[in-house]
Amino acid sequence: MEHFEVKNKDFLARLGRFTTSHGTVDTPLLMPVVHPGKSQIKPKNLRNEFGFQMLITNSYIIKSRNEFRERALREGVHGLLDFDGPIMTDSGTFQMYFHGLPEGEIDPLDIVQFQREIGSDVGTILDVFSEPDAGRAQAEEDVKVSLERAEKSIGEKGSMYLAGTIQGGVYEGLREEAASRMAALDIDIHPIGGVVPLMERYRFAEVIRATLAAKKHLPPNRPVHLFGCGHPMFMAIAALAGCDFFDSASYAKFADAGRILLPTGTAHLENLRELPCDCPICSGMTADDLKQLPEKERVISLMRHNLYVTASEMRRIRQSIVDGKLIELASARARSHPSLQEALQVIINSQAMLEENDPVGKGSSIFYTGPETIVHPAFVRHHLRTIRRYPFWATDTLLLVPHMGDRPFSDTTALIADAVRTTLPEKAILFYVTPFGVVPLELEHVYPAQQTVFPKTIDAYTVKTAKARLLEIVEKMRFRKAYWFLRDVYTSKFLSAVTPVTEIETLDSATAIAEVIPKGEEDREGLRKLRALFAFQWEIDISDDFLESIEVVYSRSTGKIRHLKRDGEILFTVVPTTGMLTPTFEGGLELLSQRVAEDYVVTMEEEASEFVAAGKSALAKFVTRASPALRAGEETVVVDPAGNLVGVGKSVLNGQEMLAFDRGVAVMTRHSKRLD
Ligand code: GUN
Ligand code: ZN
Repeated sequence: MEHFEVKNKDFLARLGRFTTSHGTVDTPLLMPVVHPGKSQIKPKNLRNEFGFQMLITNSYIIKSRNEFRERALREGVHGLLDFDGPIMTDSGTFQMYFHGLPEGEIDPLDIVQFQREIGSDVGTILDVFSEPDAGRAQAEEDVKVSLERAEKSIGEKGSMYLAGTIQGGVYEGLREEAASRMAALDIDIHPIGGVVPLMERYRFAEVIRATLAAKKHLPPNRPVHLFGCGHPMFMAIAALAGCDFFDSASYAKFADAGRILLPTGTAHLENLRELPCDCPICSGMTADDLKQLPEKERVISLMRHNLYVTASEMRRIRQSIVDGKLIELASARARSHPSLQEALQVIINSQAMLEENDPVGKGSSIFYTGPETIVHPAFVRHHLRTIRRYPFWATDTLLLVPHMGDRPFSDTTALIADAVRTTLPEKAILFYVTPFGVVPLELEHVYPAQQTVFPKTIDAYTVKTAKARLLEIVEKMRFRKAYWFLRDVYTSKFLSAVTPVTEIETLDSATAIAEVIPKGEEDREGLRKLRALFAFQWEIDISDDFLESIEVVYSRSTGKIRHLKRDGEILFTVVPTTGMLTPTFEGGLELLSQRVAEDYVVTMEEEASEFVAAGKSALAKFVTRASPALRAGEETVVVDPAGNLVGVGKSVLNGQEMLAFDRGVAVMTRHSKRLD
């Protein structure tokens, strides 16, 4: 199936493109729910006035009324709604549940067939809605029947995409099982179902748990739809958890009840003295004007406000993904209600899933927003990779320098840093102790060390986590003597984390350093930094021969390494914003001969290799081998089936996604064989 591609990732969120025969739409996407008969805002205007690209309507309602059914069968659902963009249809599951319709009221195969007949772009199976309060046995039965129906429905879908809803109530294990069995079927989209009553009761954490449980087992190339989520206060958090589609009947339901949706919550028009919104409706009148409108007009005005607000929140979410800043938007939304905060915490706690999906080296700044920041996947990964990959663990003298992460670190510690830089690592090692973890001197310019902004005081959870990271590093390090610099910064307090396990002498003046650091041979400037960088980035233990053979070119203005050259030819360039290396084609050859970790090698089919060699990007469809440990955003080498280098570039997807997707780019080629 080539219907979904992912262009950008951020935490579990994806910026994607979903293609149907009625056009391609951008995800995350919100589909307003349209009633076939009594829609008060014309479907066309939902696109023209508010920018909604895709709609959802209900096939059961269409099928059960003669006038709608006849017209839909004649002119298609697009004719019935007078809308030529993509349309999704639901099956009547929710009506069965909500109105307690008798079992058998809707035939599960007829309704899928009908959706296909009326030309729906995405039809939905007749899943069985599990109430949150359903017992485990009932929820199991609902999952079982939903799966049976999904399996049978596949024979009816034709060229229509089919949505296979994951049920399972509040039982995470059951959601996981439902998802892994649904994943094995030829389904195109996976809604998370049965969550409307949870959202109405602000049980957002349970919605996120259900979503993450399902996502663990769903193929990454199929979009996930959060069924019935239309309130803007929850959408950024749900997108952060990897929801791609949303639908909203809320805009109309809330308007009918005199309520307005805001990204921070719900307000009752009656209670408003001011309209706290800048949409065209709220900018054009006062709260009193709005209250005094005749009922019908007032409801439509509220609806339009609700649509404007939801549409702009969706745009904000998509832009935040591009900027790598969705966590900041989600954190802001989480401050609006404790239940949202709880839901965000569930995402934050899923560290392994986040680390697998969040791209490496995005380069965007990370602002402290609260206790959740310390477990940002960029910090977790930085810590894990330092522990696993930093190459120097035995030294004579260990220097621990508390720091607040002001950029660049060595500006405020120039004397200490310079002394260490000219000494071999077996003589002295320097670690900065920052609020987000330990940064070795050699990696001080590597993302996210220089892109992080913490306030001068931090919360207790951050202190505890940062101390634990420091402790882990110090425990791994072998040294004869350690010094802790007494400095007037907050992280000086972390000393209490290390004292019980190691001998540390404190130093309160940087000038004392000269007496402390053992004299050693001078390392060729920058070489130990390069060793650390190659190890950190590609798990390469770079050879002495290689280091002897290259020329290190420094920037005149910043003094930082810019290029690595050999015989006048550039092999690697340091990206100023991330401190990471990018290889040229020659650099790629060097990576292979220096035995870059297999995780960074992507293999393409023979024919596609030729395209990459000619400078085209490596498409996911033609990837034959990619490591599950490869992350998005890495500098990757692309090889042909024989293992010969054809190109180098940045991975857009992680290894698992490269194998799953049939559409879109896997590696954005930067340099290739023939065009170099
Ligand atoms: N609309 C809201 N929730 C659901 C659900 O669980 N299943 C279906 N098919 N539609 C829904
Ligand atoms: Zn408004």
